[in-house]
Amino acid sequence: MAKDPVRVLVTGAAGQIGYALVPMIARGIMLGADQPVILHMLDIPPAAESLNGVKMELIDAAFPLLKGVVATTDVAEACKDVNIAVMVGGFPRKEGMERKDVMSKNVSIYKAQASALEQHAAKDVKVLVVANPANTNALILKEFAPSIPEKNITCLTRLDHNRALGQIAERLSVPVSTVKNVIIWGNHSSSQYPDVNHAVVGGKPVREAVQDDAWLDGEFIKVVQQRGAAIIKARKLSSALSAASSACDHIRDWVLGTAEGSYVSMGVYSDGSYNTPSGIIYSFPVTCANGEWTIVQGLPIDDNSRAKMDATADELVEEKALAYACISE
Ligand code: NAD
Ligand code: LMR
Repeated sequence: MAKDPVRVLVTGAAGQIGYALVPMIARGIMLGADQPVILHMLDIPPAAESLNGVKMELIDAAFPLLKGVVATTDVAEACKDVNIAVMVGGFPRKEGMERKDVMSKNVSIYKAQASALEQHAAKDVKVLVVANPANTNALILKEFAPSIPEKNITCLTRLDHNRALGQIAERLSVPVSTVKNVIIWGNHSSSQYPDVNHAVVGGKPVREAVQDDAWLDGEFIKVVQQRGAAIIKARKLSSALSAASSACDHIRDWVLGTAEGSYVSMGVYSDGSYNTPSGIIYSFPVTCANGEWTIVQGLPIDDNSRAKMDATADELVEEKALAYACISE
């Protein structure tokens, strides 16, 4: 029997990630090849014409799984009954800007959209925040949507996770699918800690396979931390196709489950696991089953990792304070 359609909201749908993401969703890459979808696309009035153009293209592509398209600049209409919300809308970081520069522009958007989701979305809506500063936007959304379960509000660090897999695969000249269990700890920013201490390639520890701890502890970490900035420098625009694809990976694994023995990285509301501060959205290793994520517990953490995990937590605590200062201005 055919499944009922799932309503998926993409905010900022006329932007460059949106343009890459909506066809992926309509093709079943996010929710599976047997899952019909209704796309809800939100953007702001100056982008209304362009948003309508995206809607026209979705119709023209004749996606069999696409059962409807709502393209609107009305946030209440956009949020109506959505089951999944991918929050991409916002002001992107430009060359030379730090994420903190975009903070004040974005936290006020996330505060307002939190209320709209709370009032109009399905009660069990699953939310993925992509727009930067992703962890702190997600935190603001959580704080101003108290009736949405906190476990349902997450942010995207899967792109960083995938970047780490990609760097190791390139270094070893192996298919990226053979590398697993890297971890991104903390913030989706240059303070993040890409950790390979528990990662394996073809069943072998990554450190054994690479045999170059200096590279893994130095250049590798820096490349992953700075990859977003490197893409901006190269394209004069921030990453889009990789961000869209990773957003699909995040939601697919959350809804359909992670593979046996594998974990992935997700920004989630910290419960204090691994002695991280609670009250922030922090990226952890997680497994997913039955539509719920669970933080992988009990991984041994050495002193070097501890220091890096604490540094990125400190940045998130600082961002939280800054976000609240922007809100009260
Ligand atoms: P973009 O500027 O091309 O698109 C953003 C869109 O959001 C625009 O169409 C804009 O009109 C719209 N928008 C602005 N305010 C809005 C609002 N209040 N409601 C709805 N829509 C609104 O930017 P992009 O390149 O698509 O990037 C989007 C965001 O994703 C940026 O914040 C960027 O920094 C972030 N990003 C995050 C990751 C990640 O891994 N977490 C990766 C890449 C980019
Ligand atoms: C990315 O990681 O590609 C984006 O978050 C862009 C950025 O602001 O670095």
